Amino acid sequence: MNILSSELKIKLFDMVLCFSRALDLLHPEIADHHLRVAYIACCIAETMGFAADEIQNVLIAGALHDAGAASSATRLRLLDYALGNYRLDGSKIQEDIHEHAFKGSELIKDFPPFSQAASAIRFHHVEWNFGRGREFAGVPVPLTASILYLADRVAVMPMKDGNILEQAAEIRRAVGTDTGRWFMPEVAAAFQEASAPESFWLDVTYPHKEAIIVDRFGAHEIELNLDALHELAKMFRKVIDYRSPFTATHSSGVAAVAEVLGQHLGFSSADSKLLRIAGYLHDIGKLAVPSEILNKPGNLTEAEMLVVKQHPYYTFRILSTVPGLETINTLASLHHERLDRRGYPFRSREIPLGSRIIAVADIFTAITEDRPYRRGMDRARSFEVMDQMVLDGAIDGGVAAALQQNYDAFERVRNLSQER
Ligand SMILES: [Fe+2]
Ligand SMILES: [Fe+2]
Ligand SMILES: [Fe+2]
Repeated sequence: MNILSSELKIKLFDMVLCFSRALDLLHPEIADHHLRVAYIACCIAETMGFAADEIQNVLIAGALHDAGAASSATRLRLLDYALGNYRLDGSKIQEDIHEHAFKGSELIKDFPPFSQAASAIRFHHVEWNFGRGREFAGVPVPLTASILYLADRVAVMPMKDGNILEQAAEIRRAVGTDTGRWFMPEVAAAFQEASAPESFWLDVTYPHKEAIIVDRFGAHEIELNLDALHELAKMFRKVIDYRSPFTATHSSGVAAVAEVLGQHLGFSSADSKLLRIAGYLHDIGKLAVPSEILNKPGNLTEAEMLVVKQHPYYTFRILSTVPGLETINTLASLHHERLDRRGYPFRSREIPLGSRIIAVADIFTAITEDRPYRRGMDRARSFEVMDQMVLDGAIDGGVAAALQQNYDAFERVRNLSQER
């Protein structure tokens, strides 16, 4: 592999923005939601005089705030909820609105650069309630959470058809009416100031927001080295796998097996680490697949199968927005390709060795891991399956042999990585 892993330089914001976009691929109704919230929240924070490094936490929190909402049904209900207080009949959504907030903060809090964002996400649905919202269940609510709360409400209010500049005054009025009751007065005042220019509203509804956000709020940009990227990918892995209890540790298994396969096949330890990162991220495109399909008990219909089949394409598209991530992207997104060009979605002619390793690690993990509805295959059965795939020209015989010759070791590696 001609990977210069030692020279790897990835920007943290690029990773955050790409993941944020990935979270919104789930449904056209929510397209852009996370970045919209991030943008509005950052504008408010800037107006309130936050320092550049504090704005960075606001950006991260906005970009990932609903990461704990696993299903498309929940995501759509959240839009509804955010509008709920503006409904004439005043009806409330019967659901613990804080559950996804708590889950989201749990998922991301162990990555140190995200710890502040995590505590804001935890409380992003706490209403101000004339000051009672300073605390929630005895815990102080961070200011960033109050900012997110307002940003989330405002983000869903613009109607798709119609000129945003015609709607702006009405939205500003609605926020004014609910200040104190729903919104913290200082945050609401900053919002009124930040949202006075027309450009604010045009930015809010502009579809390609990455550049706007980075240009304006990217001053405190952090670069990730290989180890930091590894930690970040491991954290994203949790969000990816969390959406499906059937495969709750699948990407951990693929990552660990791929790294050790790389070592057996002569990759340097840094390049093997890239394989591990690619393993964590290979199914990131599944964020675009409704969890109702991922978790369907029983067989998928033809149409549902075609939805699942899109995921490696989305893995590729999501990762390709990050400069510097090209090699990892190639490793990650070709995992359903076959050497005989009968795989998908690219039917690639060239499949680099590293990508073949991820493909074998994926297959091995998938067939040997236990799932709620079936036991994993034993050694003999998994040998049969892999041998047949080599014969069919689907997977690389050398990679499969490396795994089979050290089967017990790989089985241990997989088991350990998938322990919960
Ligand atoms: Fe939310
Ligand atoms: Fe939201
Ligand atoms: Fe996959």
